[in-house]
Amino acid sequence: MSTTIRTRVAIVGAGPAGLILSQLLADAGIESVIVDSRSRAEIESTIRAGILEQGTVDLLRAIDPATRVDTVGHRHDGIELRFHGEGHRIDFPSLVGRSVWLYPQHEVLKDLLALRLGAGQDIRFGATVESVDDSNALHPAVVATDAQGEPLRIDADFVVGADGSRSVVRATVTGSRSGGYLREYPFAWFGILCEAPPSSQELIYSNSDQGFALISQRSPQVQRMYFQCDPDADAAAPSDAEIWDALQARVPGTTLHEGPIIQRDVLRFRSFVAHELRRDRVALVGDAAHTVPPTGAKGMNLAIADVVLLAEALRALLGEGDERLIDTYAERALDRTWKAQHFSWWMTSLLHTAPDAGDFDRRRQLGELRTVVESEAGRTYLAEAYTGWPQRVERISSITKAPTMESTPATTNSSRKFGPA
Ligand code: DHB
Repeated sequence: MSTTIRTRVAIVGAGPAGLILSQLLADAGIESVIVDSRSRAEIESTIRAGILEQGTVDLLRAIDPATRVDTVGHRHDGIELRFHGEGHRIDFPSLVGRSVWLYPQHEVLKDLLALRLGAGQDIRFGATVESVDDSNALHPAVVATDAQGEPLRIDADFVVGADGSRSVVRATVTGSRSGGYLREYPFAWFGILCEAPPSSQELIYSNSDQGFALISQRSPQVQRMYFQCDPDADAAAPSDAEIWDALQARVPGTTLHEGPIIQRDVLRFRSFVAHELRRDRVALVGDAAHTVPPTGAKGMNLAIADVVLLAEALRALLGEGDERLIDTYAERALDRTWKAQHFSWWMTSLLHTAPDAGDFDRRRQLGELRTVVESEAGRTYLAEAYTGWPQRVERISSITKAPTMESTPATTNSSRKFGPA
């Protein structure tokens, strides 16, 4: 039996971006329906990155009184850059007055799903989206198959693709599933979750002659660690002992606490930005719009920054018929996206060893690392980007009720804009 439902905003994807968008829309009295091909249990158990920017945490606190970011998550005031046998701490509060939180994405998702389902949000789990029907530009529709295998159509006033890097909605916006700016990398991360006490209280980003490693944490009992590997590496191939040897060799100066490895995966690196983020009444957010390599943990934060802009634009469009913010959504979202693209690429190239790197490249890289850690300007750039640039929101207080995120401060540098206003 086929079903047609009608809503104001159809959101494809129940990840952090889709769920937060539904909350911000509901706060403005705008109804939405979310569809996701996964089950709730799958969404809540997928292991992803764990670092939240200051602005992301401020938003979660403003929208969700039950968020566990302050009870289960941990504030981190710095990271360590390790290279050439030395550790250099980058202290965020003293450099930029902000911090980050280690709070894994699947925990954020548990909080957000409980929040939205508790408020009666319509979420169709296990529903596979086939396409977006935009033949009526003012009333696009999502064409899907529901969890029972029956046709499902969602007629809306706006469709949002929050459906990740393999987005189906992207084709409607860019004309193809892949159309965008792309860079691939000659390395990947081998990631593990292990049952062991923390080897370090803060994250260690380690550059070594053997390649890169990242020592992160999850809880007092479970740790997350990564080391640079070949993009074609097989996650099942190495023994636990070989994994520990590879990790330990890349973090000289710290004796890692070893324990049973309970999960292992290979994360491929990609930088991608879609050529377009919006066409008529269909828009992309998060990984559907752009992907960053994992170094620096920008992915989820960038998705949420998109959503703050889009929610405000949809509120103006659907609430007041004002098209000005939706017309500039892509340009404003891309402003932050390209800064985050640069930062993620830069952290990646700063810390990893390219397979074809020679002696010159190695010494140049150590020179670059010294340039960063020995200069307050260098450390400040890293801290500013890592903790997240303030959100550029014209009317943020109207979105979150509590005015938690800073608006862009009045120009503090001497830049001038030329060309058409
Ligand atoms: C984690 C992942 C990252 O990509 C990063 O830069 C920092 C931490 C993590 O999974 O803990």
